Amino acid sequence: MAGADLKTASLSLQSVSRHFGPIRAVDGIDLDIGQDEFFSLLGPSGSGKTTLLRIIAGLERPSAGRVRVAGQDVTELPPYKRRIGMVFQNFLLFPHKTVAENIVFPLRMQNVARAARDERLRWAMKLLRLEGLAARYPNELSGGQQQRVSLARGLIARPAMLLLDEPLANLDRELRAEMEVEIRRYQKELNIPFVYVTHNQEEALTMSDRIAVMRGGVFEQVGPRDDVYRRPKTEFVATFVGQSNRLSGFVETVKNGAVAFAWQGHTLHVPHQGDIAAGDKAQFLIKYEDIEVAGAAGKGRSDHRSGNSLEGRLRDIIFKGQTANYIVSLANGAELIASASSRDHKVGIGEAVSLRWPETSGMCFRS
Ligand SMILES: Nc1ncnc2c1ncn2[C@@H]1O[C@H](COP(=O)(O)OP(=O)(O)OP(=O)(O)O)[C@@H](O)[C@H]1O
Ligand SMILES: [Mg+2]
Repeated sequence: MAGADLKTASLSLQSVSRHFGPIRAVDGIDLDIGQDEFFSLLGPSGSGKTTLLRIIAGLERPSAGRVRVAGQDVTELPPYKRRIGMVFQNFLLFPHKTVAENIVFPLRMQNVARAARDERLRWAMKLLRLEGLAARYPNELSGGQQQRVSLARGLIARPAMLLLDEPLANLDRELRAEMEVEIRRYQKELNIPFVYVTHNQEEALTMSDRIAVMRGGVFEQVGPRDDVYRRPKTEFVATFVGQSNRLSGFVETVKNGAVAFAWQGHTLHVPHQGDIAAGDKAQFLIKYEDIEVAGAAGKGRSDHRSGNSLEGRLRDIIFKGQTANYIVSLANGAELIASASSRDHKVGIGEAVSLRWPETSGMCFRS
């Protein structure tokens, strides 16, 4: 996969910062994005996502650092000279222009000749499945159609890169899920990098090749989506991406690559990672789907001696569609959640259950 090679990087940021007085909105970001990448900036409100996107677009000047597009330093160039398309959350369609007029607007600004404009319009309408809607006005379109018009407008000038800032935030859930898949398809078809801003982890995981998790103007972690999901480097990333149980305790011992984590009289075995030592106060995090729920204690699977297990009672099952969340109350009053396919629940509410997971699952972070 592309991404790290400077020569082929489509976008390269070097030590890019933007400070507003005392606020470090973006603080020393280094990043290379490859030609074929769908890249997401994922982070909570105020983490600097929009500011970084605006710097890439040329709408915001960095306080320090350089921006390169396809090897060319564009730090001093105005937005319209960067060959970068943008799509925003509020689509900003012109209400008194038709779909066709809205889409070709960027080409009119560039004085592209009529014949070329028409040809590009046909291309964009076909790509975004808008055929037949050319003469409509924005208020005669569904939310998804409006968003596709706004994408068509972002793409019609054949940009070298497309930047998208929470473009699906105003759509309902179903439409959003559909558009996530569509937008990724456009990126793969066009083979230009998309840089996609969102605070929604599911969206980022669905669409991206790589994800940067942002917090306080810096990247907490950058990597392929599976890495960010499976191997979070910090507690913040572990909490922000995926759904995890969290237990507060302390580290008993660290040896042979394993942590013995003490929690309310239980000892849990966790893989060792990062900077953690015996005696540390720590948080243990484990994803819902990494815990297995089994029927009454004792008669379960053959060999769990080397794994972790806790006994409890199934308090409730939250149906999620393909999966369900099993909420289990332990004797000490704590509750843990396990998720599994909703088809094969063999235990009923109120029954005794055991929760199990291997020593290779879960993570410990010093608190
Ligand atoms: N023009 C500005 N003047 C002063 N502070 C600003 C300006 N623009 C952004 N900030 C601050 O910079 C920080 C990052 O803002 P930014 O809009 O980049 O966050 P974001 O990650 O896009 O958040 P959201 O998810 O809410 O859109 C915030 O603390 C914000 O208040
Ligand atoms: Mg924003």
